Amino acid sequence: MKSLANKNILLGVTGGIAAYKSAEIVRHLKKSGASVRVVMTRSAEEFITPLTLQALSGNRVSTELLDAEAEAAMGHIELAKWADGILIAPATANTIARLSSGRGDDLLSTVTLAFDGPISVAPAMNQAMWRDERTQENLKKLIDQDFGICGPGSGEQACGDVGLGRMLEPIDILDMFSLSFNEGTLSGKKILITAGPTQEPIDPVRFITNRSSGKMGYSLVEAALESGANVTLISGPVNIEPPSNCNFVSIKTAEEMYEAVMHHISGMDVYIGTAAVSDYSPAKASDSKIKKDGSSSPMVLELKENQDILKSVSELEQRPYVVGFAAETNDLIKNAEKKLSNKNLDLIIANDVSNKDIGFDSDDNEVTLITEKEKHLIERQNKRKVSKKIIDFISGRINDQNN
Ligand code: PMT
Repeated sequence: MKSLANKNILLGVTGGIAAYKSAEIVRHLKKSGASVRVVMTRSAEEFITPLTLQALSGNRVSTELLDAEAEAAMGHIELAKWADGILIAPATANTIARLSSGRGDDLLSTVTLAFDGPISVAPAMNQAMWRDERTQENLKKLIDQDFGICGPGSGEQACGDVGLGRMLEPIDILDMFSLSFNEGTLSGKKILITAGPTQEPIDPVRFITNRSSGKMGYSLVEAALESGANVTLISGPVNIEPPSNCNFVSIKTAEEMYEAVMHHISGMDVYIGTAAVSDYSPAKASDSKIKKDGSSSPMVLELKENQDILKSVSELEQRPYVVGFAAETNDLIKNAEKKLSNKNLDLIIANDVSNKDIGFDSDDNEVTLITEKEKHLIERQNKRKVSKKIIDFISGRINDQNN
């Protein structure tokens, strides 16, 4: 966790079973040298007492908006002026909905409205509530308004369900929250990265896919996060855990990836298409398992072309800095240059996938970064190091654009 020494942190606690973990959050914050004040919603008091958080923070806990005595001591405007950052943990679905619509009907929501600085929320709710379209829509609004989203994590829930929705562990939340104060090269920038393969169903048991382990895309996500960016990762099925401090969207098909990218693209500063998107999918997937017909005649599978996601992003009127990958088996540079111009990209990353030591599945890669004006080889090394260099290159270009 980056140091929070000398920072004034306002911790918002809302009414969920994970509220008991807020005591540990206060303890960690104090240990890292921060001053802490706690604001609780009324329902949070059903789960943990203000007295506990008062004893740990060393400050009176605020609970009411219209409390003359509390307002006289430190009212909602003073709290907003005092804070360097606000962390809301746990943040219930109701809190996320209320924050996303700018409600100001209790102390916590009013303080967030009056506050001009980094706000992060650590969602905690049942997995079905987390997946609900309305929650996801509200979350997107918060991301658009520059809120940091810490988690949630996946696992067994208090109600017995299993899935995404558990509040992250306090130390992981604080790891992410502390990045809000990061002065990295991409601090304050929003990056959308696609990774992994897509799967195009033929029938309920078979699909067409492309080779991709997700290693390249996921290491780019890590490098972008380390540079202070706010990262959304849209990924096909891979065997890698997504970093908990990014906004993670899981998809299977190219069409789902297209929809997810278009849903999240507005307001992004950079788009990086690392995913190995299937160019074609079966024209019509069969509802039941296709059986062998016993004849020796070849089976014909009719394919339709999928939308080119990268090209669709580069054609947007308000487009981000658009980066594509070119996975090539021959004429690497020539083919990559063609994609740079045909898809109207700012940068293409030429990736020789004929060499089994780099590219698909391997831990290493060697790539050439090509823009309209320059070519830059990143020699063979671990994908983490390659990613760091790619992210440094991109931040150099977008920071130049802004100067
Ligand atoms: O995941 P790993 O095992 O680590 O492997 C990494 C990788 C080799 C998959 C990665 O480095 C890579 O090269 N990704 C791009 C793979 C690919 O599909 O390349 P392409 O040349 O077919 O496509 C060109 C670009 O268009 C890519 O940015 C791709 O994301 C994008 N595209 C392609 C088709 C489509 N319908 N929509 C797209 O957006």
